[in-house]
Amino acid sequence: MAEIRVAIAGVGNCASSLVQGVYYYRNVSDDEKVLGLMHTVFGGYRIGDIRFVAAFDVDPRKIGKDLSQAIFSAPNCTLKFSDVPYLGVPVQPAPMLDGVAPHMMESFGLKDDDPVEPVEIVDVLRASEADMLINYLPVGSRQATQYYAEAALKAGCGFVNAIPEFIASSPEWVKRYEEVGLPLAGDDIKSQVGATIIHRTLVELLESRGVKVDETYQLNIGGNTDFLNMTVEDRLARKRISKTEAVTSLLPYEIPVRIGPSDYVPFLNDQKICYLHIKGKKFGGASITVDLKLAVEDSPNSAGVMVDVIRAMKLGLDRELGGVLTSISAYAFKHPPQQVPDHQARVWVEEFIQGKRQR
Ligand SMILES: NC(=O)c1ccc[n+]([C@@H]2O[C@H](COP(=O)([O-])OP(=O)(O)OC[C@H]3O[C@@H](n4cnc5c(N)ncnc54)[C@H](O)[C@@H]3O)[C@@H](O)[C@H]2O)c1
Repeated sequence: MAEIRVAIAGVGNCASSLVQGVYYYRNVSDDEKVLGLMHTVFGGYRIGDIRFVAAFDVDPRKIGKDLSQAIFSAPNCTLKFSDVPYLGVPVQPAPMLDGVAPHMMESFGLKDDDPVEPVEIVDVLRASEADMLINYLPVGSRQATQYYAEAALKAGCGFVNAIPEFIASSPEWVKRYEEVGLPLAGDDIKSQVGATIIHRTLVELLESRGVKVDETYQLNIGGNTDFLNMTVEDRLARKRISKTEAVTSLLPYEIPVRIGPSDYVPFLNDQKICYLHIKGKKFGGASITVDLKLAVEDSPNSAGVMVDVIRAMKLGLDRELGGVLTSISAYAFKHPPQQVPDHQARVWVEEFIQGKRQR
């Protein structure tokens, strides 16, 4: 099969796990099961077909370094599980816009808005012949996300929105991608087994067994830059919407809910801890309470899912599909345009791979 040419905006922990994973599993045989992927070969594409062709960041500790080194540069702190060879892909300076929160500027060693003259993103995407651009910016990067979505569109690339800004779930953006005939997937990547999918599964289970859910909360703590960024409430308005709707969309009634990032605990590094609570009533009005603690290495948790998204996007490009890919978006993202139970989204993706479902 042809190679899949991927550009990345935001070389943080998620990008690190993705790039590491692609090299970790590069030469896996077709009949070997890879942990965390839907299929080792997905619509004819192997992991080894993925090639990183461009990368953008604003952090002086990453700019100018080869992607293979930048992914291990501070403040990235995720697990190193793979040696990545020199890739010949330098991290290029990008416009900062609202990408770095004011409370993080000092720790980034940044004083002004753009410490290095940014490159023309559209030109770099075109020159690198990227098939798609993945948006891995910090939560709250509204302007910057729209900037990259616009750049991908102008450069003729598909766009994957891993963050809780609304692009694939915005009818205006979907229409624009339809008009130019480019695929779109998003919004806000859903991890392999993370807080969202566990919460969704438990709520669906209780609901299907006739329990009336009365209240629920999901508190999350972690020690990576994603959690440091989210200590400021005005950065995470759409993160709360995305995570909350992922759960409440499965309930046919309204209940008191509190879901979101809850604190930054620096020594946890890339470990994320989730405390989940659900209270309800069952037969005879008797009570039922579920309290659960989940501990995961945060960034690799979404990287395998992204490997599948990349290959679904490539199928979209091969089939000349413009607009949002609804099946992979429902399966792999917390805030897709069409929200369905996860088992149904999986069936949709299988049908999409087989060409039985258009998008
Ligand atoms: N960890 C997961 O499994 C998961 C799940 C869902 C969503 N996400 C989201 O994915 C995103 C990335 O997560 P992460 O842990 O890699 O975050 P991170 O903070 O480690 O990385 C973000 C990177 O973006 C860079 N950046 C900031 N402004 C930029 C700009 N204008 N242009 C280019 N680069 C810029 C930063 O310097 C940093 O390197 C976050 O929004 C996170 O919430 C992650």
